[in-house]
Amino acid sequence: MAVLNVNIDHVATIRQARLADEPDPVWAAAQCELAGANGITVHLREDRRHICDRDVEVLKQTVACKFNLEMCLSEPMVKIAERIRPDQVTLVPEKREELTTEGGLDCVKHKKRLAQVVQRMHKKGILVSTFIVPDPDQIVASADTGCDAIELHTGMYANASTPRTIQRRINELIKGRDCGTEHGLIVHAGHGLTYRNIEPIAAIDGLCEFNIGHSIVSRAVLVGMREATELMIALIY
Ligand code: PXP
Repeated sequence: MAVLNVNIDHVATIRQARLADEPDPVWAAAQCELAGANGITVHLREDRRHICDRDVEVLKQTVACKFNLEMCLSEPMVKIAERIRPDQVTLVPEKREELTTEGGLDCVKHKKRLAQVVQRMHKKGILVSTFIVPDPDQIVASADTGCDAIELHTGMYANASTPRTIQRRINELIKGRDCGTEHGLIVHAGHGLTYRNIEPIAAIDGLCEFNIGHSIVSRAVLVGMREATELMIALIY
């Protein structure tokens, strides 16, 4: 059965809008955990636009469920992960001008660097997942470099607007799951998932973890973090 990791980046976005000390993502993480979340995900971006170094440090000390750190392949980020030792890193591409992570990581292009980073993470006992589009070349490159898991990018599914394109995107995710499983990878999914579009994705067997952020934090503004997390977990199960 799939489990939910709540991405709490946008709790920090609200804080950073005023460069204030509230709301604290650490408090949000505790609420998610009390609601039954399997894990907490944060993306430490190079520009620190939401999650900051302090958040990652304190979350590592306080999160009792899975702590999943999203980051790019840059050397400063790899060094931070080696020091903090989250349970898992999810490797993502990163561009400063983007609003959110736009495409998947190009594991074919960055194969050499990816293999080095995977080795370094494994030395510290950290699981490695790559955030990729459901393309066989990307999946094989993730497997070849020793990754433990892949996170299939559901953004194209989330943006699809006709029943035909929605079904096409679901079929691509199913093929990605099959390819990942055949290559010994654990398969996660995430990006753009909401209370309205999660159910067809949650119905795909063999997707183990969902990383969902914006929709849950948006709902939490109105109903609280705990209820928002419980509502999403109910849709996944
Ligand atoms: N997975 C990855 C790899 C991401 O980069 C993000 C966004 O930070 C998410 C999942 C969550 O996306 P959303 O906020 O649209 O739920």
